[in-house]
Amino acid sequence: MFENLCLLAPDPILGLMAEFRQDPRTRKIDLGVGVYQDESGCTPIMRAVHEAEAQLLRTETTKTYQGIAGDPLYNERMSALLLGQAHPVLVENRCRGVQTPGGCGALRIGAELIRRARPDARVWVSTPTWANHIPLIGGAGLQILEYPYYDAARRAIDFDAMMSTLAGVGAGDIVLLHGCCHNPTGADLDLDQWRAIAGLALKNGFTPFVDTAYQGLGDGIDQDAEGLRLLSAVVPECIVAASCSKNFGLYRERAGAVFFIAANPAAADAVASQAMASARQIYSMPPAHGAAIVATILGDDGLRSRWQAELGEVRDRINAMRVLLAERLADNAAGIDFSFIPRQKGMFSFLGISSAQLERLREEFGVYMVGSTRVNLAGINHGNIDHLAAALHAVLGARG
Ligand code: LMR
Repeated sequence: MFENLCLLAPDPILGLMAEFRQDPRTRKIDLGVGVYQDESGCTPIMRAVHEAEAQLLRTETTKTYQGIAGDPLYNERMSALLLGQAHPVLVENRCRGVQTPGGCGALRIGAELIRRARPDARVWVSTPTWANHIPLIGGAGLQILEYPYYDAARRAIDFDAMMSTLAGVGAGDIVLLHGCCHNPTGADLDLDQWRAIAGLALKNGFTPFVDTAYQGLGDGIDQDAEGLRLLSAVVPECIVAASCSKNFGLYRERAGAVFFIAANPAAADAVASQAMASARQIYSMPPAHGAAIVATILGDDGLRSRWQAELGEVRDRINAMRVLLAERLADNAAGIDFSFIPRQKGMFSFLGISSAQLERLREEFGVYMVGSTRVNLAGINHGNIDHLAAALHAVLGARG
């Protein structure tokens, strides 16, 4: 049977991560996978996470099954983190959460739910979008279509083109939006643009599906959720996928959640029951540890404020690296204006260089980035910026 299977190419992001790890060069630079690195190039465990883990070790009394939807306290605290405490959909009891194995689990359960509700629904994703959106959502059997989002020439969102495509999207279809820190471009919608999309969703009847994997890495926990909060207060139905990989640094623990906002509490219960049936068919129950850490942090005022302060440090460091990279490329020697980098949000920006230049960066200089020329700014530090700037100047054909 197995002879029918051919060898597949590695995953565009995780394959690159493996390749980087195998590279024996000491001056290599990892600007690939979306994982935070500190000034010394390490991905630390957050101090608040350590504290919560120590607390759990002392207080946990059982490892029995939790249930398909995971920990209700985690789901409740995550919904408040995303939507804000007194959001109308929480007050009206129209939101249901299901804890999932990471943000990928959330996206997949969201997609499975859409297929149950409407197998012929089409899911519209931004051009470009995160490389794994298409296999994750398409893998559930849904058709994927694209709407224009990023104008590579202007290095900014082409909002007019986006809106004119979405104007043709109607009831029964889904529009996938990035809650903040757009992956891969770093180009985020402003509040007026969120308002316009919310109005269009209401008028046309399409359902927004918001992927929020980087809350807190752009401008702040609440600031990064403003668009989602505005949109979900306007539309009758909405799906939200959330990840704790980046903002809690819990990558390998696989802590995520999917939220279904329905028109009324009874509809929300029905949707949650269907989502849980999908989860049962795929993995039965989510892993507990990462979500228990998050629930502990969010449920304790002291831990929560220490976590928020640490997340602020993460955000500030990434933003400082945005400024540093733009400064080091500001001579415009290769005829490219990189001043857009500090204006963008979260971990990523697109450099917009050619594939040949990207290849040279990897082969000659050990600088790794995703094929789209997406760079993770957190991979930059004061120890490697000289090498990076010299490598970029060399491949861009300007003075080093
Ligand atoms: C990324 O975009 O690099 C991360 O979300 C990691 C992943 O799973 O692709």
